[in-house]
Amino acid sequence: MSEVSRRQILASGAIGVAGFATAISAQTAQANTQNPPEPQATVNPNGRFASKVVLITGATSGIGEATARAFAAEGATVHFCGRREALGEQVAQSIRDAGGNATYQRADVRVEDEVHAFTQRCVEQYGRIDIAFNNAGIESSPSLIADRPLEDWMDVMMTNATGVFLSMKHEIPYMLRQGGGVIVNNASVSSHVGFATIAPYSASKHAVLSLTKVAALEYADRNIRVNSIAPGAVDTPMLRRALAAWNTDFETVSQDYPIQRIVIPEEIARSVMFLCSDDASCITGMDLDATGGYLTK
Ligand SMILES: NC(=O)c1ccc[n+]([C@@H]2O[C@H](COP(=O)([O-])OP(=O)(O)OC[C@H]3O[C@@H](n4cnc5c(N)ncnc54)[C@H](OP(=O)(O)O)[C@@H]3O)[C@@H](O)[C@H]2O)c1
Repeated sequence: MSEVSRRQILASGAIGVAGFATAISAQTAQANTQNPPEPQATVNPNGRFASKVVLITGATSGIGEATARAFAAEGATVHFCGRREALGEQVAQSIRDAGGNATYQRADVRVEDEVHAFTQRCVEQYGRIDIAFNNAGIESSPSLIADRPLEDWMDVMMTNATGVFLSMKHEIPYMLRQGGGVIVNNASVSSHVGFATIAPYSASKHAVLSLTKVAALEYADRNIRVNSIAPGAVDTPMLRRALAAWNTDFETVSQDYPIQRIVIPEEIARSVMFLCSDDASCITGMDLDATGGYLTK
């Protein structure tokens, strides 16, 4: 499916809403839209994040990739990791081809030495870590708890929970040294509610919330803000794998969400950027509901 037709389907419900708003008041038509944003096509070297160094875990695809592109488009220098080296180099090159600054380093967030080397290289190369988006994560295959192999539990917990712990453990010392920083951890709708058959994912994402709150309290007086974001259903390779495993589809899942559509990764990127911006200067220890209303039900 082409990008345009995918967007048209995702946004079709929203277009109806925006059209109604236009009929009421042309003056406010731009203000209250649910239309997903287009990725910023050109890089603005003097943009909102000019001179900021942004570290992202897991930006070889999906939300992390979209966030890397979005930060770079607004002038940031982005250093990111993931395990798929060819893909990582390809994403970094395409950001550079568009005029942005980005480098990829292979690192597995489950391995402390690799997380340490990842943060260290960022500081050696760029001098600091202003912003960290701890995004790397994997889904759970569907299984009841009594049937779940321990290795499966451990892998998801190591990636989604321990990976966030290790990332913050190695980012925070640099932020303390430079006088501050901002961290956003990628949580989930699964941080707040239980979904049957995905216990490791749900438990790991609940852990992200508590890690976020504790880190926020521990470093609030040292000029480090720590928040998390809770996406619902976002069109990424992970969601597509999960829907295939659950034998369901976009249309069915959309019905669970008040906005009645699947969110696109650029929307999560924009929300992460809000939390990282000075507009969120007094926000710490919070989880931002980016589900499109699921958690309000
Ligand atoms: N899509 C959704 O609907 C949704 C909803 C709520 C929350 N989330 C969260 O959003 C985050 C991103 O997921 P996504 O949907 O964008 O899926 P995705 O496209 O599969 O991206 C996951 C990213 O994490 C990286 N990653 C996984 N394990 C890693 C490891 N051990 N070390 C380093 N990097 C690792 C992957 O890179 P490599 O494979 O190259 O290592 C990839 O770049 C996850 O934390 C996920 O739980 C997603």
